[in-house]
Amino acid sequence: MGNLPFSYSFISCVFLLSIKLSIAADTITPSRFIRDGEKLVSSSQRFELGFFSPGKSKYRYLGIWYKQISDTVVWVANRNSPIFDSNATLTIGSSGNLVILNLKNGTIWSSNMTRKAGSPVAQLLDTGNLVLRDNFSSNSSEGHLWQSFDHPSDTLLPGMKLGWDLKTGLERYQTSWRSADDPSPGNYTHRLDIHVLPKLCTYNGSVKLLCSGPWNGVAFQAAPSYSYLYEPTVVDNEDEIYYRYDSYNSPIIMMLKLNPSGKIQRLIWNERNNGWEVFFSGPDYFCQIFGSCGANSVCSIDKTPNCECLMGFKLESQLNQTRPRSCVRSHLVDCTNRDRFVMIDDIKLPDLEEVLLNESMNLKECEAACLKNCTCRAYANSKVTDTPKESPLGWETRVRVIEEIAQGLLYLHQFSRLRVIHRDLKASNILLDKDMNPKISDFGMAKMFGGDELQSKTKRIVGTYGYMSPEYAQQGLFSIKSDVFSFGVLLLETLSSKRNTDFSNTDSLTLLGRAWDLWKDDRAWELIDPILQNEASYLILNRYINVALLCVQEDAVDRPTMFEVVSMLTNETVNLPHPQQPAFSSIRGLKNTILPANGEAGACSVSCLTLSVMDGR
Ligand SMILES: *[C@@H]1O[C@H](CO)[C@@H](O)[C@H](O)[C@H]1NC(C)=O
Ligand SMILES: *[C@@H]1O[C@H](CO)[C@@H](O)[C@H](O)[C@H]1NC(C)=O
Ligand SMILES: *[C@@H]1O[C@H](CO)[C@@H](O)[C@H](O)[C@H]1NC(C)=O
Ligand SMILES: *[C@@H]1O[C@H](CO)[C@@H](O)[C@H](O)[C@H]1NC(C)=O
Ligand SMILES: *[C@@H]1O[C@H](CO)[C@@H](O)[C@H](O)[C@H]1NC(C)=O
Ligand SMILES: *[C@@H]1O[C@H](CO)[C@@H](O)[C@H](O)[C@H]1NC(C)=O
Ligand SMILES: *[C@@H]1O[C@H](CO)[C@@H](O)[C@H](O)[C@H]1NC(C)=O
Ligand SMILES: *[C@@H]1O[C@H](CO)[C@@H](O)[C@H](O)[C@H]1NC(C)=O
Ligand SMILES: *[C@@H]1O[C@H](CO)[C@@H](O)[C@H](O)[C@H]1NC(C)=O
Ligand SMILES: *[C@@H]1O[C@H](CO)[C@@H](O)[C@H](O)[C@H]1NC(C)=O
Ligand SMILES: *[C@@H]1O[C@H](CO)[C@@H](O)[C@H](O)[C@H]1NC(C)=O
Repeated sequence: MGNLPFSYSFISCVFLLSIKLSIAADTITPSRFIRDGEKLVSSSQRFELGFFSPGKSKYRYLGIWYKQISDTVVWVANRNSPIFDSNATLTIGSSGNLVILNLKNGTIWSSNMTRKAGSPVAQLLDTGNLVLRDNFSSNSSEGHLWQSFDHPSDTLLPGMKLGWDLKTGLERYQTSWRSADDPSPGNYTHRLDIHVLPKLCTYNGSVKLLCSGPWNGVAFQAAPSYSYLYEPTVVDNEDEIYYRYDSYNSPIIMMLKLNPSGKIQRLIWNERNNGWEVFFSGPDYFCQIFGSCGANSVCSIDKTPNCECLMGFKLESQLNQTRPRSCVRSHLVDCTNRDRFVMIDDIKLPDLEEVLLNESMNLKECEAACLKNCTCRAYANSKVTDTPKESPLGWETRVRVIEEIAQGLLYLHQFSRLRVIHRDLKASNILLDKDMNPKISDFGMAKMFGGDELQSKTKRIVGTYGYMSPEYAQQGLFSIKSDVFSFGVLLLETLSSKRNTDFSNTDSLTLLGRAWDLWKDDRAWELIDPILQNEASYLILNRYINVALLCVQEDAVDRPTMFEVVSMLTNETVNLPHPQQPAFSSIRGLKNTILPANGEAGACSVSCLTLSVMDGR
């Protein structure tokens, strides 16, 4: 009993001490220095700030990195002012600025702000943003006197803005490092080009290297969108125009990095492999390079040569060594007797140099206005929501839906904290919102796998006939590969507009069997819904069927992972293996044949291809 007061006060003393330390850890005040070797750590331990030497460099720089990935620096303060020894300190100087000082208190780097705070405090936030604010004034983000997010280095983190503050004239853009050992600004920049419609471009000096298509209200046209992993936004009003992306699931670590050789890369951290996965990289191939074909031509990745004149145009006769060969009209056009418009689908809009943007016109009015104007040569939609752009499930939409479902599964399988096997992927579990963005729904049967678990077995087989892999339907074995199987069925259904189970009550082959038979005869494209056949090239359609057939192979080991599926679908240069015969392909009357090998048959629903449309939110 007599000991109690003593131990009580001892505990409370430790408690207070630890609170004091944790407050100090992410904050600098005028009386607090960060020396070389010391670090600031954001409140939930996500980001760290300190001095470092990049690569083989012997110089010191002040930087920010993900705490668990200290070799990937996301921001550098003194890019232009290397520190030659390890005696520098970071503090808040007498001017109220964040400053890096040398031993003689000389300023190596300063945040250079002119407004002075009454009680300046600098804090490393959990977003990776280093902010300087006045402790006496409001602590909202508007109250930041200075923030590292306004001065990006080579990395755009979720939540950072890329673009213009129109009131102050500040442009936020990424600048590459000179080399892996030298963070000083290199020749490459990645910025939001706001001419006519916003788009993202990489520049080599002032030369465009790579551009996305223009922002169409939902995404950058013809750019891969991984909207399952993050939400892209373009804000365009009279105060500011910027692009940003936000992670839905904040534990996912991702970034958009401009590397020293001018490649822009979207990287996502794979916790299982402890490495970065490249989701997008460019420019990687000829057609990705800006302006690789001349005027009036189209660059196609699957054609040789890649450049082709538009219909009605021919190669110019005179070669000009200083630029790619252009195409010219094959015959003269006069204004009274005009050619017709030819629809060109699935291409990126050209650079919008001479263009009239009228956001209150629909596509028909646009066509009419263009016909009336002798100098007008082409017209296009600027926003996807303006196009009610026709059958909603045209080829482009289906490709996007499929790619996003693939991304979604990839996320569940490989990037979420715990591996999630959906187990009941089917068309009726894919919801489409008003912008045709798919959402995978109904996780009622999903299973989470911990650690290294790759496969599991159940006696209670629940799922949907036609989508279940053979090892699951027959032995209750499920793994990421059983979801891949379901995805393959879904892909075949999407391409053919037919249900797999359409075949189950009849005596005919399954959809898988039909696909296989056509594939063997080199007639696979006959499976494709006729309304799609004019919308995409034979090679592309064949490629999609090839991927689908790889997913539905009998042996789970032969099926690709979702990571491989995504790269096969999004990267046309990836070689596709030849598929083996799919499961169930020689079975007639699917419904009567496949029964669970043991145990009760679980809830089996019947599938349907209707892609359910959700109401607007
Ligand atoms: C400054 O740092 C260097 C190491 O970079 C060290 O060798 C040197 O002694 C330091 N100078 C002083 C005056 O402390
Ligand atoms: C640098 O500034 C600190 C804090 O104001 C002071 O303690 C120190 O003596 C100064 N050093 C020199 C060399 O002036
Ligand atoms: C701050 O201003 C000084 C003087 O104008 C300039 O030399 C220095 O480069 C600026 N530093 C930064 C980080 O902008
Ligand atoms: C901010 O101000 C509050 C109230 O004046 C004070 O308690 C707190 O210690 C200050 N924080 C810092 C980091 O100076
Ligand atoms: C900062 O903002 C939060 C939430 O808006 C509020 O709870 C907190 O009291 C504020 N702190 C200061 C020092 O103003
Ligand atoms: C940057 O461009 C200049 C001239 O445009 C060139 O001399 C220099 O080598 C380039 N630097 C890099 C790192 O590419
Ligand atoms: C960037 O331009 C420089 C010349 O200024 C050239 O040497 C270099 O190859 C270009 N880089 C790329 C990626 O095109
Ligand atoms: C070749 O193309 C360049 C760039 O477009 C142009 O400036 C130049 O006048 C052209 N030369 C000839 C001979 O047409
Ligand atoms: C835009 O189109 C609408 C509808 O056709 C028309 O009334 C308006 O004058 C056009 N605006 C401009 C700037 O051309
Ligand atoms: C005709 O179209 C051109 C762009 O192609 C535009 O600059 C011009 O203003 C248009 N003329 C009229 C009368 O709308
Ligand atoms: C596309 O595939 C090729 C060949 O497999 C590979 O070299 C390239 O890095 C891939 N590109 C991307 C963006 O993954």
